[in-house]
Amino acid sequence: MCGIVGYVGSNDIKNFLLEGLKELEYRGYDSAGMAILQDDSLKICKAVGKLENLQKKCQDIKVDGFGVGIAHTRWATHGKPTELNAHPHFGEFSYVVHNGIIENYKELKESLDAKFVSQTDTEVIVHLFEKNIEELKDPLKAFKATIDALKGAYAILLITKAAPDKIFFAKEGSPLIVGRNGDEIYFASSDAPLIGYAKEVHYLEDGEWGVVQRGEVQLFSHDQKIEPEFKPLTINKELAQKGGYRFFMEKEIYEQSDVITETMMGRITENGVDFEEIDEEYLKGITSIKICACGTSYHAGLSGAYLIEKLARVPVTCEIASEFRYKDPVLHKDTLFIVISQSGETADTLEALKMAKNAGLKTLAICNVDNSSIVRLADRTILTRAGIEKGVASTKAFTTQVMVLWMFALYLAQSAKTLDESQHKKELEAIMHTPHALKVDENMHERLKRLSKRYLHGHGFFFIGRDIFFPLALEGALKLKEISYLHAEGYPAGEMKHGPIALADPELFTIALMPKNLLYDKIKSNVEELSARDSTICAISSLEFDLADDFVRIHEWDHFMLEYYEMAVVLQLLAMEIAIRLGNDVDMPRNLAKSVTVE
Ligand code: M6R
Repeated sequence: MCGIVGYVGSNDIKNFLLEGLKELEYRGYDSAGMAILQDDSLKICKAVGKLENLQKKCQDIKVDGFGVGIAHTRWATHGKPTELNAHPHFGEFSYVVHNGIIENYKELKESLDAKFVSQTDTEVIVHLFEKNIEELKDPLKAFKATIDALKGAYAILLITKAAPDKIFFAKEGSPLIVGRNGDEIYFASSDAPLIGYAKEVHYLEDGEWGVVQRGEVQLFSHDQKIEPEFKPLTINKELAQKGGYRFFMEKEIYEQSDVITETMMGRITENGVDFEEIDEEYLKGITSIKICACGTSYHAGLSGAYLIEKLARVPVTCEIASEFRYKDPVLHKDTLFIVISQSGETADTLEALKMAKNAGLKTLAICNVDNSSIVRLADRTILTRAGIEKGVASTKAFTTQVMVLWMFALYLAQSAKTLDESQHKKELEAIMHTPHALKVDENMHERLKRLSKRYLHGHGFFFIGRDIFFPLALEGALKLKEISYLHAEGYPAGEMKHGPIALADPELFTIALMPKNLLYDKIKSNVEELSARDSTICAISSLEFDLADDFVRIHEWDHFMLEYYEMAVVLQLLAMEIAIRLGNDVDMPRNLAKSVTVE
């Protein structure tokens, strides 16, 4: 979830690059950097942390007249957030910025006789380009040969002293836009940096690449030369940052399908799961797992507990961090202690982690923010790679946390050999299918918008599910509570008859999670009991359910986790549409903060 910008022209290059990065900072900001080339003279500057650190560091850089420049704001995926790992990466005479992930960077690196200084996948691009230029003697051909060798996702900008008035660019799987205003050419990974600069834009498609110089864009699609289709840039800044969505929450719900691919990238192969962050040696001697987290991350943890026990047969307990802290817990050294946190700064989770460390347990953080307090303290970290999450109501952080836990469960199952070949294959295929289950179906969204008007009153909601759909029910209820301010509770469906069913009447709304692939008959009879007592039922399932007052049909999946993921999206959208109808600020709900750094 990094951001890139580029510029060819004579109008205060440095200012455009820094302003552009500022507009992209919301995507991630563990480090940033820029490179400006004027004939043979290169100015490069990088800094760790927020963009203001880069601004301060390059204060003395003066650039007048024509030049070309590229810049990048980074959210670490491969390699720690250090200056060496910050972009632009460089070789002897060329500089590159890149968004995305180069999957085959290790093979390419081995094939090159170059001096690598960073731990990133990106650096391979610039060394490969320089090798190609030596062989082909033509920068354009060398650039094409370079991108042809890359596997994975990328938006690339490259400048080189071999062609100092040009920027080479390519797009595959990561967004990139080229903008124009007379002779000036701009690049950015989203609209926001271009507003106020470019008059017209061409949105690059996958497979498009080329080169720009003053006033000229040469564009290719694979091997074919094509004409760019410039159209006026009409969007305003706020809308641009939200990618055209009404709220950051909505944007974050929609981007889950792409983001989860980043979570999986490099960790899933045809043969199974592999994490470069952990190894079997590290997990040797572990006989049980304790997970600790707050809020949505706790719900991800509960889901993970079901998955780990199911797949790897390792006993797992999951606790709310604020409870764990003061209960004088019994901790054994053969327990792996996992903390889960989007921000990595939640005070209760951090404190629980300290207690586990002090007790001598091995600790693992599942976190979205590299270099956060929790990441710095834990022995090991698996990053969720969700990109920055702006909506206070967590969405993509949750689905990526669950994905890490699911992959981790399969990783443990592989070493414990608890699954046979066909079970292992089934899990792997389902994991690889998750981006499809998370894709927002526009018709479904429209249906939920219409449905939301029937759920604005009443005396409360029960979200019910069984097994792993119980923590999903908890998460659905939390989403609704925090942004709509309506009372909602998540409950294990089989437990309703032990008390809460007394509340049932037409003004009690039951949101029933009814997966075809997991305990369908059991949940069905629980819902029938509620229906018999006149609760209003909204059923979410792929199987028709006659007693439902409202029925939300999900796709037919052959694995319960794919149903889980599609239902997660339904619950997020339903909560958001109800909150919007009630006139609430979805991104900034009352009384809540994105990161709870106090007790
Ligand atoms: O940053 P963390 O994941 O540690 O945050 C934990 C909770 O504060 C967080 O999940 C909170 O519950 C969200 N607002 C839920 O949407």
